[in-house]
This record gives sequence, structure tokens and C-alpha cells, in this order.
Amino acid sequence: MRERISVCFVCLGNICRSPTAEGVFRERVDEAGLSDRIHIDSAGTGAYHAGEPADPRSRAEARRRGVELRSISRQFQPSDFQRFDYILAMDEANLRNLRRLPGAEAYGGTLALLRAFDSTAPPDASVPDPYYGGPGGFAEVYDQCVRASAGLLDRIRSDRGL
Ligand code: 4NP
Repeated sequence: MRERISVCFVCLGNICRSPTAEGVFRERVDEAGLSDRIHIDSAGTGAYHAGEPADPRSRAEARRRGVELRSISRQFQPSDFQRFDYILAMDEANLRNLRRLPGAEAYGGTLALLRAFDSTAPPDASVPDPYYGGPGGFAEVYDQCVRASAGLLDRIRSDRGL
């Protein structure tokens, strides 16, 4: 059986940024004909919104671009370190929170900021939290996810010979 690669996007609430990244990356993977090879999920470091669909503002922005966000919020679990080959955090706080979890030190996969895969982004760039801002923030998150998703898929293809 061919290896299945798994990718998890992580933010704080798992209702705005990481569901957007999940939806955008899934579209890119579908277009590349790799949806049977790459499993895609998202999670939040916090549990505040567990069980909720993505924020209506994130869903509206994605729908405007032709992508449906269907994720239901869940908290990232230490056991996810065993389940995912690539774990992409939206900002430094998310990354720090992930690194504090049991199992993080022994994690053998790729744990990084999502925008590290966008060659046009400044070093250490984050995907800023749009939750308390205006609608422009949601469009910006979407655009950042588009750029980083392209680089992330290139990296996975080269890592895994796809
Ligand atoms: P996300 O945005 O981390 O991109 O899902 C947030 C959603 C909710 C909250 C913070 C950030 N909150 O504090 O409830």
C-alpha cells in the first residue's frame, strides 16, 4: 500500500485561520490529483469553540473564492503528534503552545509556521488572527493561505517524491 501523508493546520480557536488553511490546501491538493495520497485536517490549541463550524466570516470569504469550509472545531491532542507528518501553526503563540504539549519533543515530523512555506513572506511571518478585526482580515488570511499552500505542497512533493 502506498504511504498516506497527513497534514494538520493549527490556530487558536480552529474556527478562522486553520479551517481556511485546511480548505485552501485541500483545493490545491485536489487540483494536483493527490487527494488520495494526502490527508488534511485542522485543530485549535484552545477548546473554546470545540464542536462549532468555522466562523461565518471565514466561510463567506472562502465561498466567495469557490471553497466550502466544512470543518468542525476540535482541540489539538498530544496524540495528534503520532497522526500527522506535517503540523503547521498559524502564529508563534500557536507554535509555542504546541511545543509545550506532551510528545512535542519526540515529534519526528515537520512542525513549522505555515508562512515559512511562502517564499514571498518575511522570515517568521504569521497568519494574523482576524477574529476581532474587520472583514479585510479574512480576505488577507485567505490570500496568505493560498500563497503558503502552494509552497507547502511543493515541499511535500519534493520530500515524498510525489
Ligand atoms: P482562530 O481565531 O484562532 O483563527 O480560529 C480565533 C477564534 C476565536 C478566538 C480567538 C481566535 N477566541 O478568542 O474566541
